[in-house]
Amino acid sequence: MISVFLLFLVARVSARYTADWTSLDARPLPSWFDEAKVGIFVHWGVFSVPGFGSEWFWWHWQGQQPPDPKCVAYMAENYPPGFSYPEFVNGFHAQFFNPEEWADIFKASGAKYVVLTAKHHEGFTNWESPNSWNWNSVDAGPKRDLVGDLGEAVRNRSLHYGLYNSLYEWFHPLYLDDKKNGFKTQEFVKLKLLPELYNMVVRYRPEVIWSDGDWEAPDTYWNSTEFLAWLYNDSPVKDTVVTNDRWGAGCACKHGGYYNCEDKYTPGQLPSHKWEKCTSVDTLSWGYRRNMRLQELMDLPAIIKDLVSTVALGGNYLLNVGPTADGTIPTVFEERLRGVGAWLEINGEAIFASKPWRVQMENATVPVWYTSKGDTIYAVMTAKPPGTILQLQTPKTSASTKVILLGSQSPLPWSPLYPNGGLTVLLPELPRLPGHVWTLKLESVH
Ligand SMILES: *[C@@H]1O[C@H](CO)[C@@H](O)[C@H](O)[C@H]1NC(C)=O
Ligand SMILES: *[C@@H]1O[C@H](CO)[C@@H](O)[C@H](O)[C@H]1NC(C)=O
Ligand SMILES: *[C@@H]1O[C@H](CO)[C@@H](O)[C@H](O)[C@H]1NC(C)=O
Repeated sequence: MISVFLLFLVARVSARYTADWTSLDARPLPSWFDEAKVGIFVHWGVFSVPGFGSEWFWWHWQGQQPPDPKCVAYMAENYPPGFSYPEFVNGFHAQFFNPEEWADIFKASGAKYVVLTAKHHEGFTNWESPNSWNWNSVDAGPKRDLVGDLGEAVRNRSLHYGLYNSLYEWFHPLYLDDKKNGFKTQEFVKLKLLPELYNMVVRYRPEVIWSDGDWEAPDTYWNSTEFLAWLYNDSPVKDTVVTNDRWGAGCACKHGGYYNCEDKYTPGQLPSHKWEKCTSVDTLSWGYRRNMRLQELMDLPAIIKDLVSTVALGGNYLLNVGPTADGTIPTVFEERLRGVGAWLEINGEAIFASKPWRVQMENATVPVWYTSKGDTIYAVMTAKPPGTILQLQTPKTSASTKVILLGSQSPLPWSPLYPNGGLTVLLPELPRLPGHVWTLKLESVH
């Protein structure tokens, strides 16, 4: 018996992943990720300088055919003729960038991880990539290792640090050549993408690799499975790193680590695979927009309801903010993040390290989302019930069931609704909570 157990252990320890999806997809997701539930996404790059339209500005202006007339007009009206996109780097000063302040804000949001764009589709790296000569934040623009500096401050607050990396680069000549060759050649992957990606992992040890920009070519072009096998077997983060599902055309929602499926994906029912919803406070852009308007932003109740339903459906919630080229986080974003943190301060018990319950939501007196921890469940009310009574149909109570409102200590009076389930809770006067979302904790129910 003991020797069988030892053999099993040895097999576990020495198991190596092979460069195919069957093997890679079978890797258990490191447990920190599901427990973390909430992360902050940061889109920052040269696109933050024009700050117009979105982080896709370059493509909308000069890539797509026909170009977006708004971007063309914006350039014609505000910049000299012949101004090229790379010249925007001279406006990327990051002179107010204080990584400690940023990390304080992220910490105050209650989030457990932070994901920064190390390189977006424009190809500019926010670190001194040896493969991105003169198109990185140390040679040009801020003259600073943005990825490294933020990473230090974030980790110092015991937050996990992840990096977003775009596989494709809209205008890289080697990429355009490979594309012209129907992706039968891999010069871009061999000479640019992979050396850079390996270097980034070894240098910064990210615990999330948030891959993107994969959809034009198959995973075999990107050598995704070879990279992931190295990442999981031999990289310095092999035990803790998590990855998403953007590793080649057709991979989304199917292969990789956890699933994003698509931006702002919202499943209708509980998915069978760990997933993450990424979304943005600015509903129109991930990168900073100089002309954003208040009514285009998610307000705090909308963010909290989105977060709660995502977690109830087994997802993580990755909430994006776009800093300015000056290196500031717009105060309206900071206010939202601190609001989320104030809500989590009281209600975080229902979120962090929770599991989906057997029922995810119920249209009770008001819509209620459920999460659970063993035989304790949390019923999150996404609106204020009209009276002092909340009726829940699905929990099955017992004689020892106890109900409290998170943020207060006293048990609430309740009575069974039917002989075999449901309950009526007598609510106290609900305190003012950021987001207008309240949580009932129900102990000893199933
Ligand atoms: C954060 O930095 C402080 C001051 O340098 C240090 O004492 C502390 O151990 C660090 N904490 C972590 C979690 O790295
Ligand atoms: C990509 O994978 C193929 C097949 O395993 C391998 O022969 C090739 O060397 C890899 N290319 C790079 C750049 O790693
Ligand atoms: C609750 O009501 C909403 C809005 O009418 C509906 O979309 C949803 O499917 C309902 N959910 C359940 C579990 O009945």
